[in-house]
Amino acid sequence: MAFVRKIAFGGAFAALMSTTSVGYAAEQVEVLHWWTSGGEAAALNVLKEDLAKQGVEWLDMPVAGGGGEAAMTALRARVTAGNPPTAVQMLGFDIKDWAAEGALGNLDDVATAEGWDAVVPAALQNFSKYDGHWVAAPVNVHSTNWVWINKAALDAAGGKAPETWDELVAMLDKMKENGITPLAHGGQPWQDATIFDAVVLSMGGDFYKKAMIDLDPAALDSPEMVEVFNRMTKLRSYVDDNFSGRDWNLASAMVINGEAGMQMMGDWAKGEFLKAGKVPGTDFVCIRFPGTQGSVTFNSDQFAMFNVTAEEAKAAQAKMASSVMNPTFQSAFNVVKGSVPARTDVPNDAFDDCGKKGMADLAEANTAGTLYGSMAHGHAAPAAVKNALYDVVTAQFNGEYDAATAAKELATAVAGAQ
Ligand code: BGC
Repeated sequence: MAFVRKIAFGGAFAALMSTTSVGYAAEQVEVLHWWTSGGEAAALNVLKEDLAKQGVEWLDMPVAGGGGEAAMTALRARVTAGNPPTAVQMLGFDIKDWAAEGALGNLDDVATAEGWDAVVPAALQNFSKYDGHWVAAPVNVHSTNWVWINKAALDAAGGKAPETWDELVAMLDKMKENGITPLAHGGQPWQDATIFDAVVLSMGGDFYKKAMIDLDPAALDSPEMVEVFNRMTKLRSYVDDNFSGRDWNLASAMVINGEAGMQMMGDWAKGEFLKAGKVPGTDFVCIRFPGTQGSVTFNSDQFAMFNVTAEEAKAAQAKMASSVMNPTFQSAFNVVKGSVPARTDVPNDAFDDCGKKGMADLAEANTAGTLYGSMAHGHAAPAAVKNALYDVVTAQFNGEYDAATAAKELATAVAGAQ
């Protein structure tokens, strides 16, 4: 009898506990993101664990697809159904577009209490704020004009990292002679566009700005742009036959295992190398795309907070935003993610050599006025223009247009999308 009572009491106690934990669970965030590769998931865990410590429950809504296009389509469907997630990984102009629709909440209280204005670079605030109000919390700064080279393949090809376009081509030729795929690439529009960012920048920062940010028709259809497309055609000749549709992290894996020589990709690629236990300087080398040294095309992942009404949900959003902006967290997360902190006051001690270079490059470009938003990752122009640019870049990469026609098409497509 006593035994039965004990069990009954145990059951009631368990029920009470679970009611209590449901109470806590009211402070939860549903997070839509596209961090599904090995390196990305490892970085995301740093955030999940940080929030768990504060009693905020994480409801995961992963939507695979680098660059986040699929995630943005899923988001639109959720909002249309009247059920937006609480927090969404978002890039650049997409944040502004959602804010303009009135869909985002307001983070001013936490931003003011924590002094975000003083520590977040202006180039990022430009996207984190709408109409003077904080609507998103930036978790990192990535940049797209990087090349990731397998160290053994580099050594076999002469050992000197290329600094100019001609040296790059010579190295790719040498890697081909050495019997490996010179360039690991995945044929998806956003990946083609990521290389395009770097190639446009290699024609000069002023040119990048005129073409990708000012969308000047005279720069879009210009001799420089024809040269950009000629370079894209040249790069296309170094990818393997199976490149079409390949995910970016599988291209990274080709460089990691020595099947390919290099990948031209944002520094999220470094997360894959680290996850595979590889060490910069020993197993792989990071360089700026030859001809773009001193300039940076950046993109920043931010968590945009959608409008919620429940007080618990608002509190959970504020806790998440505060966690994301914590300097200790920004160091721990970005060390794993491959990116650099979105605040200027985070020490670089914990970062590897590529991370330290990333931080120094960003600061230098910011001071020199050579920090530009990445077109491929939504920081140069709104989605409609970005998608129009993607179409032409991918069509040309796949041989649909010659270089001169592509430059004309680019100007036409941008005009039509504005
Ligand atoms: C995001 C990165 C992400 C990459 C590949 C980029 O747009 O900014 O955080 O790792 O896409 O998925």
